Amino acid sequence: SSLLDDECDYLFKTVLIGDSAVGKSNLLSRFARDEFHIDSKPTIGVEFAYRNVKIGDKIAKTQIWDTAGQERFRAITSSYYRGALGAMLIYDITRKGTFENLKKWLHELREYGNRYMVIVLVGNKSDLVNSREVEAEDGRSLAQQEDLCFMETSAKENLNVEDAFVQMITKVF
Ligand code: GTP
Ligand code: MG
Repeated sequence: SSLLDDECDYLFKTVLIGDSAVGKSNLLSRFARDEFHIDSKPTIGVEFAYRNVKIGDKIAKTQIWDTAGQERFRAITSSYYRGALGAMLIYDITRKGTFENLKKWLHELREYGNRYMVIVLVGNKSDLVNSREVEAEDGRSLAQQEDLCFMETSAKENLNVEDAFVQMITKVF
């Protein structure tokens, strides 16, 4: 194992969920490797990435799981959620349908997820100001209603991505 592994104080699992093409894989690649791909392919099965975050004088290592938004490409739901302490629930601010489907994702989260799981609601693609279909206020009020944290991000422009993940990780911690 690497030096970082040896210096890590805590290791925990978090998951990304939301409809296909909302930007889950790009939020993860931005956070883990500072990469963005304009032509990324839909995820098939499960992918992982790790990142260490320093919180106070401790180092938290998080293993972040990413799966397909498309039902036919998804991993086995129960194993995907097993042991996860945090979840990022993502929609696309330019597609209202991805916001409307959040009810379905919240239902699944509550069925399979740990009841104390930290959930951060994320409206992604905030750079596409002219195509916006979901107001920030709608995201904020849903989050308030469901007792979630909320943030708008852009994986493309690297806006709030670090903050959204760090907020989730800090709350888990
Ligand atoms: P599945 O794996 O099918 O569930 O999709 P996903 O949620 O992982 O979406 P992905 O990250 O593959 O992104 C889908 C498309 O949206 C890609 O063309 C990305 O380049 C684009 N995209 C992702 N994030 C942003 C963003 O913040 N802004 C803009 N403009 N495009 C984005
Ligand atoms: Mg993906």
